[in-house]
Amino acid sequence: MTLRYHEIAEARHRILNPLTEAKLDLLGGICGLAPGRRVLDLACGKGEMLSRWARAHGVAGLGVDISEVFLAAARARAAELDVAGQVTFEQADAAAWAAERAGGTPFDVVSCIGATWIGGGLGGTLGLMRPLVADDGLLLVGEIYWAEDTVPAEAHEALGIGPEDCATLAGTLDRFQEAGCELIEMTLADGDSWDRYAAAQWHTTSDWLRDHPDAEDAAEIRSLLTSSRRAHLAYQRRYLGWGVFVLRP
Ligand SMILES: C[S@@+](CC[C@H](N)C(=O)[O-])C[C@H]1O[C@@H](n2cnc3c(N)ncnc32)[C@H](O)[C@@H]1O
Repeated sequence: MTLRYHEIAEARHRILNPLTEAKLDLLGGICGLAPGRRVLDLACGKGEMLSRWARAHGVAGLGVDISEVFLAAARARAAELDVAGQVTFEQADAAAWAAERAGGTPFDVVSCIGATWIGGGLGGTLGLMRPLVADDGLLLVGEIYWAEDTVPAEAHEALGIGPEDCATLAGTLDRFQEAGCELIEMTLADGDSWDRYAAAQWHTTSDWLRDHPDAEDAAEIRSLLTSSRRAHLAYQRRYLGWGVFVLRP
């Protein structure tokens, strides 16, 4: 149901995370992308990052995602940006896909933006990504972090995120180091971009509920909208940060 909820709630989003288009472009510059470089994006969503980078930097992109709904949007966007010959998208569970491809021709950049559950958490996901990247390549991971040192129990409960499920920024640095990675850059969402990512979902979901009052799962979708909206306003925007971290393996 979580995936279905996001397919509905993010039907009008291009970027399925709290970064702005400008920050996605900034990340492309940070990574020193150049024509011919190969970028793998695990859990690529609608592939906006890959298609933008293909257009701006001439990279070759491969995106893997479990959602056919998001992948259809990714292929349409690649065609719209005239990069369909440079980027390809595959439907698969990203963890299984990564395990199968480990040891193949390495990629220059391997990313997983906003889906570290694919490897059972940050450390496990970095473990999936490392065998896929060239020795002098980069890993990009989009991850939540605790924005305050003390987070109330009600916030953990409302967000469904336990105290150890993520860390503060300094604690996240420790986790990167424990995984054998060097943090060399980052770009973080800010309060406004968090609000844009979340609030646009309320609007889209509200419209969907209005247009599909008899849908089998309408009550469940409404309940998820109600709880996620309240959790964002009460806790998420204060206690939870989000960013993309650039790592050297
Ligand atoms: C928060 S979205 C991020 C999408 C994209 N990286 C972006 O930032 O725009 C999470 C993505 O993970 C995908 N996903 C969830 N579980 C997955 C899995 N096991 N394997 C591959 N993709 C998965 C969802 O379909 C969704 O596209």
